[in-house]
Amino acid sequence: MKDFKRYTITSALPYTNGEVHIGHMAGVYLPADIYARYQRSRGEDVLFVGGSDEHGVPITLKAKAEGITPQDVVDKYHESIKKTFKEFKISFDVYSRTSAPIHHETSSEFFTHLHEQGVFLEQESEQYYDEANDQFLADRYITGTCPNCKSEGAYGDQCENCGTSLSPKELINAKSALSGAVPIMKSTKHWYLPLDKMQAKLETWIDGHKGDWKSNVYGQCKSWLDSGLKPRAVTRDLDWGVKVPLKEADGKVLYVWFDAPIGYISASKEWAETTGKDWKPYWQDEDSKLLHFIGKDNIVFHCIIFPAMLMAHGDYIVPENVPANEFLNLEGNKISTSKNWAVWLPDYLKEFEGKADVLRYVLCANAPEAKDNDFTWKDFQAKNNNELVAVLGNFLNRAVVLTHKYYEGKIPERGELNDQDQAVLDQLANFPGIIGGKIEKYKFKEALFEVINLARLGNKYLAETEPWKLVKEDAKKVETIMNIALQISATLAIVLEPFLPDSAKKMSDLLGIGDRTWEEAGSSDLLAPGDQINEAKILFPKIEDAEIEAQIQKLENTKMNNESSAAKAKEDEEKSMEKSAVKEEVAFDDFMKMDIRVATVLECKKVEKADKLLQFLLDTGVDQRTVVSGIAKHYNPEDLVGKQVSVLMNLAPRKIRGVVSNGMILSAENSDGSLKLISPYEPVDNGSSIG
Ligand code: 2FM
Ligand code: ZN
Repeated sequence: MKDFKRYTITSALPYTNGEVHIGHMAGVYLPADIYARYQRSRGEDVLFVGGSDEHGVPITLKAKAEGITPQDVVDKYHESIKKTFKEFKISFDVYSRTSAPIHHETSSEFFTHLHEQGVFLEQESEQYYDEANDQFLADRYITGTCPNCKSEGAYGDQCENCGTSLSPKELINAKSALSGAVPIMKSTKHWYLPLDKMQAKLETWIDGHKGDWKSNVYGQCKSWLDSGLKPRAVTRDLDWGVKVPLKEADGKVLYVWFDAPIGYISASKEWAETTGKDWKPYWQDEDSKLLHFIGKDNIVFHCIIFPAMLMAHGDYIVPENVPANEFLNLEGNKISTSKNWAVWLPDYLKEFEGKADVLRYVLCANAPEAKDNDFTWKDFQAKNNNELVAVLGNFLNRAVVLTHKYYEGKIPERGELNDQDQAVLDQLANFPGIIGGKIEKYKFKEALFEVINLARLGNKYLAETEPWKLVKEDAKKVETIMNIALQISATLAIVLEPFLPDSAKKMSDLLGIGDRTWEEAGSSDLLAPGDQINEAKILFPKIEDAEIEAQIQKLENTKMNNESSAAKAKEDEEKSMEKSAVKEEVAFDDFMKMDIRVATVLECKKVEKADKLLQFLLDTGVDQRTVVSGIAKHYNPEDLVGKQVSVLMNLAPRKIRGVVSNGMILSAENSDGSLKLISPYEPVDNGSSIG
């Protein structure tokens, strides 16, 4: 195995158009943090990079919808996301943002470097253009009917209903999301990364990782490579993003997926500026281990496109591994921002104050490492109560309470060991290696399971030796047992740290062991006889049924809201279908049976106790007659006097709210449901027939 001198660990930069949820945490930030903390504990040189991804069309759409600027949107969420990560103890060495000047500078220089080396292909192509807004439309700005599932409102890059990746030209009835108008095609120039030319190099590199990359990651890369890489545009016609640093590219910005991964480098530069360190070795020396922690939807960008950019640049190393995770579902359904089907991390922290570690535990124990996994509140409660409380907390509590009871909180001497004691100490010595080995292989779930197994070992040892019974007959033996139980507790505090940093800190404070390294874990002498420990505190309180039921109810409410909006959308769609469908054919003679004429309104007033009805007195040219019409919500009666309207004269008289109506005044129903009277374009004689 290659010997690396330093670790450059990146975690996907979250988009700043919303908060982060449990899926993000389980898939990306938690594994990255566990890995970074573990390597630091081993004494390795680690640079753990995070930041906000502040460009891209969805942010501009959100700004538009809220009537604020994109900068306002990203400012709000950047601060809030940064705070959430801090509260969950994600140990970034730097958390930057892509709207920062250092990032604009870095990504702009990166582009220029590639451009100067002639890497890019420049090509004119026909793209959708919104004439009403005078701008080219990014894929997300175009909506229409999905060619695959036929749902309305699919985007030009993807249908959110069926998940199919699309190109704007595939959409049926494409419309501009800005103006609603049908866009035209117009020619525009863009800069392309010629991935086709780089295919062979990428293939050799990725093939070399067949054995050490996760099979889901390798498999996805293979399928991209097998279908043949194509040149990919790295610029866009948009006014939010990093400006393309070329005179001829006015009004264009770098594609968000071109600038975002460069954000890892900009953040590293920012870290170097504030700490006085050098960022270059972390990105440019072959003895640095570069790792990208991401979700599976980001694989192509981190395993093909970004490495291609780094290779083309020439000064950079490429990732050693990209341990991408699958997705976490919530109570059996896909997490969805638009449906508010998520557990938002800031909400969790408000509702489960001081319990960041509990969520870290459950998300790691349930991490979607090899397949999609499900988060349920019942499982959350069970893992807290049956594992954290009953196994880990219980063991530590027993060890500490008994030490206070028998020895006033002083570590007792370890005397002669019997086979059982020795076997326990041998197992203790092996645990850190087992746990570390699993972390090194990105098997965080299994690693955490082994941490709990160590606590199980401690519980089993106490249950079998029963020091509380032995204390009267063999006090010396009890000292040995308690010493061993306390050494297990001390190792637990060290190996738990990457997973549950708050609880590990409480444990090491309680035992008074300070900061210890991974190398020291497993030792049977972490605590010296005579050392004083602190009073026991409850590390993990039980979570009650009522707390869980409240969360389940919250999701039920979300489901109900979603269902009623879906039902309303369906009803609206049906109505509009009904409207657009042409009625059954009628014979000409039947049509001619209708006597429709122009009349002038002589009088108009509201019908009493009927808020939709107006009563008209009309001059129809042949008579003066009363007609009742349901348009009171759309017109004031006084505005209609003297106006010409169209009347169906030979409709059988009907009594409406006590008034006999002789005919029907014609109106058109607009798509928003408003009614407009049908009048002659120019004044005509009353009684003129319409046909
Ligand atoms: O999928 C996402 O949320 C992207 N914002 C991830 C970007 S990762 C990196 F390239 F910055
Ligand atoms: Zn679809």
